[in-house]
Amino acid sequence: MAFRSLTLFALCGVSLAGPSAPPLRPVSTLFEFPNPSYIENLAVRSNGQILISDLSTSQLTLFDPSASGPKKPVFVHDFTESLGLAGIAEYQPDVFAVITGNTSFTSDVPSAGTWIVWSVDLRGVDISSTHGQVGLLASPPAVKKIAHVEAAQFLNGISVLSEQDQTLLVGDVNGGVIWRLDIKTGHYEVAINNTYTQLYPATPFSASGVDGLHVRDGFVYFTNFGNGTFNKMPINRDGTPAGPVTTLAHNHGPLHEYDDFTFDCDGNAFVVTGGENTIEMISADGKRQVVVAGNLNSTAIAEPTSCAFGRGPHDKNILYVVTAGGMETPVNGNVVIGGQLVAVNTTSRGSAC
Ligand SMILES: *[C@@H]1O[C@H](CO)[C@@H](O)[C@H](O)[C@H]1NC(C)=O
Ligand SMILES: *[C@@H]1O[C@H](CO)[C@@H](O)[C@H](O)[C@H]1NC(C)=O
Ligand SMILES: *[C@@H]1O[C@H](CO)[C@@H](O)[C@H](O)[C@H]1NC(C)=O
Ligand SMILES: *[C@@H]1O[C@H](CO)[C@@H](O)[C@H](O)[C@H]1NC(C)=O
Ligand SMILES: *[C@@H]1O[C@H](CO)[C@@H](O)[C@H](O)[C@H]1NC(C)=O
Repeated sequence: MAFRSLTLFALCGVSLAGPSAPPLRPVSTLFEFPNPSYIENLAVRSNGQILISDLSTSQLTLFDPSASGPKKPVFVHDFTESLGLAGIAEYQPDVFAVITGNTSFTSDVPSAGTWIVWSVDLRGVDISSTHGQVGLLASPPAVKKIAHVEAAQFLNGISVLSEQDQTLLVGDVNGGVIWRLDIKTGHYEVAINNTYTQLYPATPFSASGVDGLHVRDGFVYFTNFGNGTFNKMPINRDGTPAGPVTTLAHNHGPLHEYDDFTFDCDGNAFVVTGGENTIEMISADGKRQVVVAGNLNSTAIAEPTSCAFGRGPHDKNILYVVTAGGMETPVNGNVVIGGQLVAVNTTSRGSAC
C-alpha cells in the first residue's frame, strides 16, 4: 500500500520517496493498554521517563522505557473531576501542564466547558523500585489547577509560548481557535482564530480544527485535523499572528489525518497520521514528505495520536509514539486493538542530531 501514498503525493507535485527515500524504520511495541483505550499524548521527562495521557481515563501515568524486566505504566495522578486527559507540555524543567476534560467514546457527555489545564510538578518525583518490581511513585507530584477554560469546546494540543512570561498556547480542536493562557494568573484569551484554525468536517469525529500545535523559533506550527493541513505562522510574543500562514503539507484523503507532531534537531517535523497508521517526516520547508514508519494496513502503529523523541543518550533517536489502537478508525476498516506506546528507531535516517 506504500504505492497508494506514492501515487497521490506525486499527483500533488511533492517530491517523495524516490530512490533516495530511506527504508521504513522498525517499530516495537513497548506497552499495550486495555482494549479499548485512546492514548492521546505523551511528554518525555529529562530523566527519560514518559508521561502518558489517555482520553478515555482520568489517570495520568508514567512509563520508564529503561526499566529492566516487564515494563508497565505507573500511576501518577487521578484527575477525578474529568473523564479524560489530552495534551501535555513541560513549562518549567520537570513541571508539566496537563489538559483534562470530559469526552466519551461510548455516550454523549457534555464536553464544551469542561476543559481544565493543570500543573503537575514532578521535580524530585521518581518511580520506586522494590526488588526490581516497578509499580509506584516514591512520592506524589504536586498538582494544582492553572485554569478552567470555561469558554473552550475541546482543548487538545498545548505548547509553551514563552518560558519567561510563563504563557501557553492551547489549541481548541472543536472551537477552531488557539488560546493564550497565563500560567500565573489563569487568564486566557483567544490569540489566533482564522481559516487555518477553524473547523472542517472530520467524520467519524465531530467537525475539527487546530489539533497538534508547537511553538518553535518565533513560529507556531499546527495541524488542522478536519482540513488535513500542517501549517506554520510567525507569531508575536503574546501569541497573536505576526504574518501570514504557510501550509507546509496537505493530506491526501480522509484516513490521512494529521494530528500531533514533534521536531528533530534539524527542524524536520515528525507528524502522526491517525487513520493512515503511519509516521510522516515533513522537511522544514515542506518540500519532502516521507513515510518513515507504519503502514495503512498494519497494526504496528494503529491510529497514532502523538509522538516525541527520547531525551537520553541511548534513546535520543527513538521516536516514542502513542496510539488509539484504531478505536475511531479501525485498521483495515475492522481491526481495533488496545492503545499502545511504541518505539520507532530513526537512527539511520542520516541526521547528525
Ligand atoms: C465531567 O463529568 C463528570 C461525570 O459526568 C462530572 O461529575 C464532572 O462534573 C464533569 N466535569 C466538569 C468539569 O464539568
Ligand atoms: C472565531 O472567529 C469567528 C469568525 O470571525 C467567530 O465567529 C468566532 O466567534 C470566533 N471564535 C472565538 C472563540 O472567538
Ligand atoms: C481546507 O480549507 C480550505 C480553505 O478554507 C478549503 O478550500 C478546503 O476545501 C479545505 N479542505 C478540506 C479537506 O476541508
Ligand atoms: C487496507 O486498509 C483500507 C483502509 O482501512 C481498507 O479499505 C482496505 O480494504 C485494506 N486492505 C486490505 C488488504 O486489508
Ligand atoms: C537503533 O538502530 C541502530 C542501527 O540499526 C542500532 O545500532 C541501535 O542499537 C538501535 N537502537 C535501539 C535503542 O534499539
